[in-house]
Amino acid sequence: MATYEPVKSTPRLDPIWALGKKFLGSELPIMCGAMTWISDPKLVSTVSNMGGFASLAGGNMPPEMFSDTIDETRRLTDRPFAANIIVIAPNYRAQLDICCEKKMSHIVFAGSIPRQSDVEQAKDSGAKVVCFASTASIAERMIAYGADALVLEGSEAGGHIGHVSTIVLLQDILFSYGDKLPIFVAGGIAHGGMIGHLLLMGAAGVQLGTRFVVAEECQAHPKFKEAFIKARSREAISTPQYSHKLPVVAVRALKNRAMDRFGELQMELLQKLASGEINRQEAQFKVEEYWVGSLREGAVDGDVDKGSLMAGQSVGLIRKVQPLREILQQLVDEADLAVTGAARRLEA
Ligand SMILES: Cc1cc2nc3c(=O)[nH]c(=O)nc-3n(C[C@H](O)[C@H](O)[C@H](O)COP(=O)(O)O)c2cc1C
Repeated sequence: MATYEPVKSTPRLDPIWALGKKFLGSELPIMCGAMTWISDPKLVSTVSNMGGFASLAGGNMPPEMFSDTIDETRRLTDRPFAANIIVIAPNYRAQLDICCEKKMSHIVFAGSIPRQSDVEQAKDSGAKVVCFASTASIAERMIAYGADALVLEGSEAGGHIGHVSTIVLLQDILFSYGDKLPIFVAGGIAHGGMIGHLLLMGAAGVQLGTRFVVAEECQAHPKFKEAFIKARSREAISTPQYSHKLPVVAVRALKNRAMDRFGELQMELLQKLASGEINRQEAQFKVEEYWVGSLREGAVDGDVDKGSLMAGQSVGLIRKVQPLREILQQLVDEADLAVTGAARRLEA
């Protein structure tokens, strides 16, 4: 196992992100969110080794591969990291069992609302449970189910998203529940100044995805990263739902043929639904299958036209590929500066 000197917190930030640090067991409560095909053992272990905290993406992984991925990450880091499992994925139940057997320190439930019994199973294994909240009612339900922390994710984020922006969720979730459990804010963050101000609002820490895609150590295809560097925020658009007969979770990604193809797929599936060729569940499964395959084409194969380029609006704030250490250091320095500036304004 390579030894790394983690990026250090600062005396200014220490007290305001202490809760997040303690919860994650990391030097910095800056999480690299799970990204299917992208959050592999190398990225996850490097982020965690450098003082941050990362989540492995369970995605659609078959159980054996998922189990091996956890083992490999553990060989690369002795620091904590999470497993992120998607509640609606085909191998979800097996993945949850594996997380519990392997005594993961943190389990993140993503993609939909987990059952209370799933949250209990994870907690009984000794894991700290993190749930996504894209509305206040989901936040309330997850707290009632026993979640130990929440990721409040606004619709600016990349990948599968909710409908409400980060700024509204801050008022609806962070201000209401921030004193009950640690809340990590995600969606639209790429500058450390934002992290500093979110901490002042009561966040325990943050989760970023888009910014970490362009880390040198991230194994996403160079063309995928290049598309991120070139893109402007307004090119990271979200998909519409054409009919209530086929509910689909919106996805935010850069505009390209994959987004057009998704529109065509919805039309085809609606026709098949109308003719009774498939049922709603099968149609929804086809939609998720499409995204997993399409993201692979973009992130792994580097087909930036046909493959999905899932990215958040913060993509427009990203200028270059950087080593992870530099990204984390920059985020910490900017956060420190923002908090120092706020303290000065208060004293003046
Ligand atoms: C390419 C990509 C793939 C993602 N895949 C997943 C995933 O598999 N599971 C998940 O919970 N979140 C996924 N996300 C969301 C991230 O974990 C993170 O919460 C989000 O990117 C934060 O917002 P930001 O993009 O504005 O930084 C993905 C995001 C991106 C950009």
